[in-house]
Amino acid sequence: MKTLIKNIKQLTGIQESNSKLKLSGKEMGILNTLDNAFLVIENDTIHSFGKMEEILEITVDKTIDAAGKIVMPTWCDSHTHLVFAGTRETEFVDRINGLTYEEVAARGGGIINSAKRLQHATEEELYQEAWTRLNEIKSMGTGALEIKSGYGLSFDAELKILRVIKRLKAESDLTIKATFLGAHAVPPEFKGNKDDYLDMLINEVLPVIHEEKLADYIDIFCETNYFTVADAERIMEAGAKYNLIPKIHVNQFTSIGGIQAGIKHKALSLDHLEIMTDKDIADLHNSDTMPTALPSCSFFLKIPYAPVRKMIDQGLAIALATDYNPGSTPSGKIPFVISLACIYQGLTPEEAINAVTMNSAYAMGISDSHGSITVGKKANLIITKEISSYNFIPYSFGGNHIDQVILGGK
Ligand code: NIG
Ligand code: FE
Repeated sequence: MKTLIKNIKQLTGIQESNSKLKLSGKEMGILNTLDNAFLVIENDTIHSFGKMEEILEITVDKTIDAAGKIVMPTWCDSHTHLVFAGTRETEFVDRINGLTYEEVAARGGGIINSAKRLQHATEEELYQEAWTRLNEIKSMGTGALEIKSGYGLSFDAELKILRVIKRLKAESDLTIKATFLGAHAVPPEFKGNKDDYLDMLINEVLPVIHEEKLADYIDIFCETNYFTVADAERIMEAGAKYNLIPKIHVNQFTSIGGIQAGIKHKALSLDHLEIMTDKDIADLHNSDTMPTALPSCSFFLKIPYAPVRKMIDQGLAIALATDYNPGSTPSGKIPFVISLACIYQGLTPEEAINAVTMNSAYAMGISDSHGSITVGKKANLIITKEISSYNFIPYSFGGNHIDQVILGGK
């Protein structure tokens, strides 16, 4: 099955070779683009592309005319908590009325509130809710995402989430990676016994995850009042025994050494980074870890934005993701993340788009097959509506400028 997309106004996000796995520093400012281009899809992969005037006679099964439109790789959302039960708008109102996010959590809201609801939801209910969210983010251009557990906080409920993710992987055309985040908060039953909770996760849940192949990565919320650096080291060491690579929550509210622990354990990504010391930034230079910022979380909680301008200027790579979850980011819209990164974090549209394609693909371990227009990569493509240039995407914030999303050539 061959499909030709012709008359593309801008074919953007091109990487000539798929040996380039991420973009760092100044490279992030370059978004390779061909004007007036064509692209051929063969089955589920990108077969060829080039300038319209160089197009050769080919026989195809289907032709799409993309006159006036932009074609680019679909977004990779490398950090989400997409499987959750119910929403938390009461806490949103409490925060408007003056409570802080930490105060809401201390009153039994926050992660614990979501965990209580999730424990009562059936696997089928969770699946249906997640399926609706998945289709919504797909219509906004997301073609791959990472999904974490972490709203279960018990043996049964953590496995329930991971089994839902496994079913989503099997039944959806989006590319999905699963992360075990049992250490997201200490549940009330283990209050004062955090070590016992970690023991349960390590000795009871992890073997089942391994047995049923339920996770690709392991995560922990390494933060003051949640889990310490020592806890993070324990979880990462335990994960390593089952080949689970770390992708961890660090530096959201405080800098306590999670960055250094993550680097030591070869974390694939370190996420949040709202509060970064100069040393935290410097240490990232000596690693293959992808620093990942979540600007829609900063927007929603009104907390500082990660200092990614400074980090890119110092030569680092940066990925951006949504953090889609019911508490700190009830939205999975990558185009809005791109706008926030441009408006509040000083990224150019080129840098922001590279951060949600190439670099976020790296942050979920799929940059050999996703994240750019490259011959041989998966044909996961966005065709926009008729817009003036890709700059219009962050500029016209809050809108949906996508006409069609092609996943695996379909
Ligand atoms: O990534 N920071 C930790 N966890 C989530 C939010 C948790 C919640 O409020 O439900 C996050 O922001
Ligand atoms: Fe998160």
